[in-house]
Amino acid sequence: MARIFKEEWKVYGNVFDQYTLRNLFKLQTQGHFEDLLSPVALGKEANIFTAKTKEGKVIIIKIYRLQTCNFNKMYDYIKTDPRFINLKKQRRKIIFAWTLREFRNLLKFRELVEVPTPITVLDNIILMEMIGRDEPAPQLKDSVPENREKFSKELISSLKKIYDKGYVHGDLSEYNILNFDDELVFIDFSQSTTRNDPNFKEYWERDIKNVARYFKKIGLKTSEEELKEQIFK
Ligand SMILES: Nc1ncnc2c1ncn2[C@@H]1O[C@H](COP(=O)(O)OP(=O)(O)O)[C@@H](O)[C@H]1O
Ligand SMILES: [Mg+2]
Repeated sequence: MARIFKEEWKVYGNVFDQYTLRNLFKLQTQGHFEDLLSPVALGKEANIFTAKTKEGKVIIIKIYRLQTCNFNKMYDYIKTDPRFINLKKQRRKIIFAWTLREFRNLLKFRELVEVPTPITVLDNIILMEMIGRDEPAPQLKDSVPENREKFSKELISSLKKIYDKGYVHGDLSEYNILNFDDELVFIDFSQSTTRNDPNFKEYWERDIKNVARYFKKIGLKTSEEELKEQIFK
């Protein structure tokens, strides 16, 4: 077992630490996927890969890096979330809580809007559905929806649902919305929090600013104030 582990995962030795490699191996042994396929994105805190299941489906693996992520910033963002109020300021504890929070947010937000179906979570690793057919669907920043009026109505109505349920995405922009055949799919919920979080309003302000900026960029006229009126009414 140890030998197979070593051989198969050796190529990722420079990307991941031993702990993460062991977790990936554990998830693989549990049958969640057969092989890692290819890197999709390299973020500030996480690496995203595609993987193939034994049924031949492609899924997404999001891995928070234990060594090089900014856990101080993570702590600042998570410490006010009432769901994680007793969290101690220790690197691994924070990263695991951060990952778990994103997984829980996926479970919550899927009741409201389109999100990738979460599969499982282990410490610093999340497995979820891949949005797309053979390849991951493009981000909104690279693929503007055909019908902009319909798109803006749908986006506003999704945001209203999120607001009405007492949540905020917290990192909303054209980077964290995928355009899957003109269907909007929200991703990246690691900063999402609830109404009881003292930063709730500030995050909404920021999210709406980003949406207004994007609308302007693609030639839509809805302003920040109009967005607020429609979402907060
Ligand atoms: N479930 C998914 N399906 C398809 N593509 C995804 C999925 N999750 C992430 N991606 C791709 O990987 C990128 C980075 O993922 P994201 O969760 O936003 O991580 P980060 O925190 O690094 O921004 C996304 O912008 C998107 O292009
Ligand atoms: Mg992102």
